[in-house]
Amino acid sequence: MNINKERLWYRLNKLAAIGRNEFEGITRLSFTEEEKSAKLLVSKWMVDAGLKVREDAMGNLIGRLGGKNPALPVVLIGSHIDSVFNGGIFDGPTGVLSGIEVLQTMKEKNFNPDGPVEVIAFTDEEGARFSSGMLGSLAVAGKLKEEELHQYRDQNEISIAEAMEKMGYNPELIKNAKRDPATIKAYLELHIEQGRVLENENLPVGVVEGIVGLYWLKVTLKGIASHAGSTPMNLRKDPLAAAASIMSFGEQLAKQERNLVITVGQMNVSPGGINIIPGAVELTFDIRDIQQKRLDRSIESLTTYISDVCNERKIEYEIEVLDRLSPAVCSDKIIEIISDSVKECNITPYKLPSGAAHDAMVMAQITDMAMIFVRSKEGISHNPKEWSEEADIALGAEVLYRTVLKLIKQKVVRN
Ligand code: HGY
Ligand code: MN
Ligand code: MN
Repeated sequence: MNINKERLWYRLNKLAAIGRNEFEGITRLSFTEEEKSAKLLVSKWMVDAGLKVREDAMGNLIGRLGGKNPALPVVLIGSHIDSVFNGGIFDGPTGVLSGIEVLQTMKEKNFNPDGPVEVIAFTDEEGARFSSGMLGSLAVAGKLKEEELHQYRDQNEISIAEAMEKMGYNPELIKNAKRDPATIKAYLELHIEQGRVLENENLPVGVVEGIVGLYWLKVTLKGIASHAGSTPMNLRKDPLAAAASIMSFGEQLAKQERNLVITVGQMNVSPGGINIIPGAVELTFDIRDIQQKRLDRSIESLTTYISDVCNERKIEYEIEVLDRLSPAVCSDKIIEIISDSVKECNITPYKLPSGAAHDAMVMAQITDMAMIFVRSKEGISHNPKEWSEEADIALGAEVLYRTVLKLIKQKVVRN
């Protein structure tokens, strides 16, 4: 094994201490003091690895190894260090710290790549704070508009732009984070699987073939708050009863399609009294499928059902699309390279789709991308119980190391 697995494991656990809450989970949201301390620690490790370190206008943290000819297109290794509320320690940091480990190993072996290799910790992959994710990779891809930074707000009504300014960033400069696709050779991401396919196959690592597309919707239902005791059932305009029927429709819709998943993760009921029929309900939908057509069809059926239920119950409704990402296909060429690296580690290469979203799906819009998965214990993630074994993570980082070495030598990767 080339990489230093003890160092990688030590760093993963050291970083995990930043943002850990009383439930043993990690809450490290973007543009907060916790994230700032995490970036400080990770940038120190990038310096220790002998990398040139910078932050771009969107707060993406980048460590660069210039190589013999810095003008050549860069091989980018990335992931994120922000977390969901009360999340696990591996979702994101496994990819960033493995990227640093790969470059530090190259330096220690006095291997100077022909062209540049960078590791990037993207800002706000999760979207936990503002309900709009992938901000860092969208900025790099040139797909993030400045006005969106004023549109999305957290639960304290602070906008992304205000949060950025508070942490010393200037939202007006985010266009400077955009990178010319011609300067990028390929993008690679190592990530925990967050599912249980590899565990079922009894494999430590896997090769990702594609990433599901997603829609995030916010649905607002407005009825009439009234007395729970003196309002007959037939005279009610109850938005929560409407929400229950919509949620159950969504669940049935998803159960009819093998790859479609629909989740209601957030709900606000007002005024929220035990003896008051609710006046308004806000709920969010996370809808995903690997196939764009099926994804669009399910949005169509759900929005039609919402309209029918609300007309029948005389409830007002509003549907806001918070986020929308198309499914992304991984580069066949790089899948082949990763599979060869997996075989070199005496493991059978196993291809699987990603049910979770990743910065890689945004990077797929501007360059060739591929992902390496590390086995997740019982598929648990976005939960303090998220776990991957040290040995599996080390194997993932070794496969990443061997893949980067091959990619550097590749003349052109594009499909
Ligand atoms: O939501 C996701 O799939 C990712 O964890 N941001
Ligand atoms: Mn992640
Ligand atoms: Mn996540």
